[in-house]
Amino acid sequence: MNQLRIFTLLLGAFALLFGCRPNNQQLINSTYTPDELRVLSSNLDLPDFPYDYGFGNSSSKSAVNHKATLGRVLFYDTKLSSDGKVSCASCHQQALGFADDQAFSEGPNGNVTDRNSIALASLRNFGVHYDKTIDGKETPGLFWDERASSIKEQLKQTINNPNEMGMELHQISNLIENTDHYQVLHEKAFGTTTVSEDNILEALETFINSISSTNSEFEGEVIASLNYISGDSVVGETKFERGLQLFAKHCTACHGKGMEAISEFANPENLSVTNNGLKHTANDLGVYQHTGKLEDIGKFKIPGLRNIELTAPYMHDGRFATLEEVVDFYNSGIEFHENLHPSLRDGNEAKRMNMNEEEKTALVDFLKSLTDEKMTTEAKWSNPFVR
Ligand code: HEC
Ligand code: HEC
Repeated sequence: MNQLRIFTLLLGAFALLFGCRPNNQQLINSTYTPDELRVLSSNLDLPDFPYDYGFGNSSSKSAVNHKATLGRVLFYDTKLSSDGKVSCASCHQQALGFADDQAFSEGPNGNVTDRNSIALASLRNFGVHYDKTIDGKETPGLFWDERASSIKEQLKQTINNPNEMGMELHQISNLIENTDHYQVLHEKAFGTTTVSEDNILEALETFINSISSTNSEFEGEVIASLNYISGDSVVGETKFERGLQLFAKHCTACHGKGMEAISEFANPENLSVTNNGLKHTANDLGVYQHTGKLEDIGKFKIPGLRNIELTAPYMHDGRFATLEEVVDFYNSGIEFHENLHPSLRDGNEAKRMNMNEEEKTALVDFLKSLTDEKMTTEAKWSNPFVR
């Protein structure tokens, strides 16, 4: 009897061991070996176990976190540019909502971008905005004129653009194949040290898709705000509420009430580009540049407004230095154009909002409540290179 019991126990223990094995294996594979840690730590300050990039509980979660980690390192690596001095983070700085503070940014070899850097943290969550379909409509395109239809397409254009990175994808493959720390990171993310161009794009995409901003003052007020915006006639008590009401009255026809997006809340047309009455210049006609359609003249992406306080200067060409200037423009500077959005018209003229000084200040203060300080210092999105 006793022997049988011992035997059964042993068998059970064996089964347990075997049963656990795949899990243990997964765990071991996703942590770095001491050798790998040595390789990584000579250049990089990475955690022993990858950060959780917030992609949920799927079984491939650890691979996703390794992909985001590889993406993070690539994002901050100046070797990804033709003169070795520029990284994605040069123009998309964490402290500035993943934008920069220039109207036009300096890329490699003194080249300058044609447009203002877009804030990657201006959405509540980058991936949620760009990876879904809204009522059957394709997700909004990328860039100020939406000329890229997917993040991977955007990445290819950015990498090849001589004003941004000025590189060929195969040069980045070579870099990864010839750099010890990239070999480790790539192997963890994709289970192989053989680099494909698609893997590079996927890693970068995973990293930028993880960027999200959900800790602003606005968050605390969001429930209340949704009620105001849905049209309940509540009188604004606090300054925040007054600012919010003005925003709801004048701005949500385009900028969504969740502040990350536009259309799914605001308008039935699922608008993601429009003409907002800026005096346009012949050298940049927006969406028209790639569609050649007259009705696209002066149309640009409707940007998310999260962290807007951090991302000056404003508009596709950085023409306004401050939020006060932006509000002044909407209040009394809108120019009439045949493509001007109806919500900014008064019959056949450009709308005048007629806000007084106090109201303009309340609106600016409201915009500042969208700032997320936590996002600006979050370690998982920060520069991993040991300086
Ligand atoms: C020299 C500055 C510069 C560099 C370097 C740069 N960008 Fe950008 N980025 C811009 C500008 C400017 C735009 C807007 C371009 C346009 O609309 O034509 C932009 C747009 C984007 C967009 C589109 C966002 C949206 O909502 O449509 C993404 C995503 C992006 N960049 C990611 C990256 C990544 C990843 C890298 C590195 C591989 C990178 N950028 C390197 C300046 C830069
Ligand atoms: C008809 C649609 C529409 C309305 C209404 C509208 N906007 Fe905009 N907004 C846009 C578009 C389009 C852009 C980008 C234009 C460009 O750069 O050419 C923009 C840009 C901005 C920017 C600059 C964003 C950046 O990243 O540079 C701010 C700030 C802004 N709007 C705030 C407001 C406020 C505040 C209101 C209400 C008073 C408002 N908008 C009303 C469409 C709209």
